[in-house]
Amino acid sequence: MNKQWRLAHTPSGGWPVDLDFRFGQEALPEPAPGQVLTRTLYLSMDPYQWGRRRNGTELPGQICHGRTVSQVVSSNRGPFEVGDYIFNTNGWQSYGLSGEGVSHFGYMHPRRLDPLGAPLSTAIGVLGMLGLTAYAGMMVQCQPRAGETVIVSAASGGVGQVAAQLAKLAGCRVVGIAGRPEKVDFCLGQLGLDACVSHLDEDFHEQLRKACPDGCDIYFENVGGKVFAAVLGLLNQNARITLCGLISQYGNTDGSNPHTVWQASGQQVFAVREVAVHPLFVGNFVDEYQERFLSEVGEYIKDNKIFYREDRWAGLEKAPQAFQAMLSGGNFGKTLVEVSEDTT
Ligand SMILES: NC(=O)c1ccc[n+]([C@@H]2O[C@H](COP(=O)([O-])OP(=O)(O)OC[C@H]3O[C@@H](n4cnc5c(N)ncnc54)[C@H](OP(=O)(O)O)[C@@H]3O)[C@@H](O)[C@H]2O)c1
Repeated sequence: MNKQWRLAHTPSGGWPVDLDFRFGQEALPEPAPGQVLTRTLYLSMDPYQWGRRRNGTELPGQICHGRTVSQVVSSNRGPFEVGDYIFNTNGWQSYGLSGEGVSHFGYMHPRRLDPLGAPLSTAIGVLGMLGLTAYAGMMVQCQPRAGETVIVSAASGGVGQVAAQLAKLAGCRVVGIAGRPEKVDFCLGQLGLDACVSHLDEDFHEQLRKACPDGCDIYFENVGGKVFAAVLGLLNQNARITLCGLISQYGNTDGSNPHTVWQASGQQVFAVREVAVHPLFVGNFVDEYQERFLSEVGEYIKDNKIFYREDRWAGLEKAPQAFQAMLSGGNFGKTLVEVSEDTT
């Protein structure tokens, strides 16, 4: 049987709750000519999924969307062989089809993975869209130079941990912002950042100011809200910002557009200090930068120069919980669900 989570209704706003999702099972689908049936191994939990659910892109009754690592279990003259491991977008279900006539999400083309290369889960993490997001924002848009001060918010998270380490490798002084104390310790110890402060502390603004005696040359924005307000006053003349995400505002209930609110709150400082703001959409970087990213970051990982932490949840049944945790800081590292056993 194919276990599945479907969207129960279009959420009216706020943050996800259990009742937004409906669990069910149905018979395995038969691959049509040109298709393969795949078993899901890993399912990625990403903030953008909440946007799709809230804005009606994902409709009630549909299988919840999600990027996956899967193994081909049967083929009807499909594009992959039985036994192949592939990156695809099965969504929140234990089996799915790939190949002719099966739509995938935008630029996320199914592709074969090498089980002898990096661990398979990295295809939805550090060596997937998440890593490319960090690479595009930090290396392509902001182009860090040795000696500059870089601030990364959500620094222990999936995108943040990679962005922060890339800036360290470029010779920058890197200051992380994270939540719980163990995340702050992780950023300092495991990631080797120069400083890290918690946005949960009452004197957060003051701590951040002290951690950046020379101001901020590059800000990698993942969060928005009060975290952005604290960084704003530290921006140097000609600072650069990658506007990667605004996760603290994805549960807004007032109908406002997080990007518009963010831009308006920073506008005056941006103008006076001639700050370059780079909005980021990872899909725009796939064609030109995917190969370069895979080669550079792949090497860093082989040489243990980039570390990555995953937050794994066992069993498809846990998907809604994992999703809710990821959106509220209950995760620790890149959030993924182990849907079936990875024997590689
Ligand atoms: N532009 C693109 O193409 C693109 C692509 C992928 C991801 N993104 C964005 O990148 C960001 C990170 O995504 P991810 O998948 O790597 O998730 P993640 O960082 O692994 O998890 C989200 C983290 O956000 C932090 N957070 C949540 N609510 C917060 C709040 N109210 N205040 C401060 N921090 C809060 C939490 O960290 P703490 O507990 O440390 O606060 C949480 O662990 C998101 O904004 C996402 O939308 C953008």
